[in-house]
Amino acid sequence: MRLVIVSNRLPISLEEQDGKIVAKESVGGLATGLNSYLDSLDQDSQFNEDPLWIGWPGMYLDDPDRFDFSSRIMGKFRICPVNLTDAQMDSFYLGFCNSTLWPLFHYFPSYVEFDESSWDSYVEVNDIFRQVVESVLQPDDVVWVHDYQIMLLPEMIRRNRPDVSIGYFLHIPFPSYEIFRLLPSIWRTRLLQGLLGSDLIGFHTYDYSQHFLRSVSAILGLEHNLGKIMVGDRLAKVDTFPMGIDYNKYAQAAKDERTQTEKEELRQSFGSAKIMLSIDRLDYSKGIANRLQGYEKFLELYPQWHDRVILMLVVVPSRTGVGKYQEMKKQIDELVGAINGRFGKLNWTPIIYQYTTYPLRELTMLYDISDVALVTPLRDGMNLIAKEYIAAKTENKGVLVLSETAGAAIEMGETLIVNANSVLDIAETILRALETPDEEQARVMVLLKDRMERFDVNHWAEDFMNSMLLIKSEQERMEST
Ligand code: G6P
Repeated sequence: MRLVIVSNRLPISLEEQDGKIVAKESVGGLATGLNSYLDSLDQDSQFNEDPLWIGWPGMYLDDPDRFDFSSRIMGKFRICPVNLTDAQMDSFYLGFCNSTLWPLFHYFPSYVEFDESSWDSYVEVNDIFRQVVESVLQPDDVVWVHDYQIMLLPEMIRRNRPDVSIGYFLHIPFPSYEIFRLLPSIWRTRLLQGLLGSDLIGFHTYDYSQHFLRSVSAILGLEHNLGKIMVGDRLAKVDTFPMGIDYNKYAQAAKDERTQTEKEELRQSFGSAKIMLSIDRLDYSKGIANRLQGYEKFLELYPQWHDRVILMLVVVPSRTGVGKYQEMKKQIDELVGAINGRFGKLNWTPIIYQYTTYPLRELTMLYDISDVALVTPLRDGMNLIAKEYIAAKTENKGVLVLSETAGAAIEMGETLIVNANSVLDIAETILRALETPDEEQARVMVLLKDRMERFDVNHWAEDFMNSMLLIKSEQERMEST
């Protein structure tokens, strides 16, 4: 058997530099997590052939031979590009994916654009993905489709290849029916039917699964029994699989001798000030502006902390072509300037702000050096930064402040949970985090480390694949009776 992963973004993103095409690692939990899982697959796994990953390579190649995909094996897998033009990406990726589905599924209905032509592009591009999948599909392949950009794909593949095994996983929240139903009737119907082309449909949390099932019942009139739905005469299953991280990768990178030396040097340069870390892709769903306002409130309420705390704010560039993201960048720049201008002194800057992407080793150093991590999205399917922070801690020190509207909060209830909409709650929780005694920090850290290590990305993917096997055998039993 061979595993075929399909996602909008490949784990590498191509860029043109000095007339040459170069590949960089992609940003975002989906690419990083799956990459690790595929690398870990060995001879004993159910897949005995190199896996294949199909997706968009980050840029349009007028001449596909400018980059040698055929010989390129990333780690242990091969990649197959879906070449999309800039015009297609504008309307599909910037348009329907990130100006319609993303804001709606993250509960920002007022940001949603309802544009017929971008819906048409969504259908068209999903069909292009289908063509690429069909062109490489082998009889025993297991196809695993990922995320909101290609929700129509499972049903499209199923139409021509009724027997193929298809799994689907949504990496973002599935919203409540009241939000999902805001989509025009044809769009919402087709999106649900698209997913139901899969044998198994997975979500990060129980609530997202329930929201999906409720929409299927209300919109398609299909009822379920313990997550099992009859789609015509075929059985499909809906279930919950909270995604983990490659725990060992982060833990080992943090322990690296060079990382530790650099960490000590950096630590000394900050003196005795406490370091708080905030790191996200630039996205309005991540609540960066609220977080900054919460920090401002904290500095206003607790002047005794001036000079004694520094917020390291790392904002990772993302979807720069979408208007709402540009507005967000401007708002963050202004807030940082205002807070530093208001509270800063000659020898103390409250916020160190960087708009950049950090490679893994440096990233783990930032996690490890930080006394507090502020992970306060307004809405997040899971949030893997929260898990990475725990994995990268080399001593059992540090406090995670986590938003209750991040999927990760369900598995990390021992940490400090905050309502990211409340500036005051953020301010007060920052104080609690900074004042948490060492023993309490260690108690929570040990618990969370153990849990994150056990429920890592491989556990998540194996759990999903085992459920695929179970549903397949149940389908076979039904067919034979
Ligand atoms: C989120 C989505 C992923 C996406 C990633 C980066 O994690 O769930 O599907 O790949 O963000 O976003 P981008 O638009 O750059 O692919």
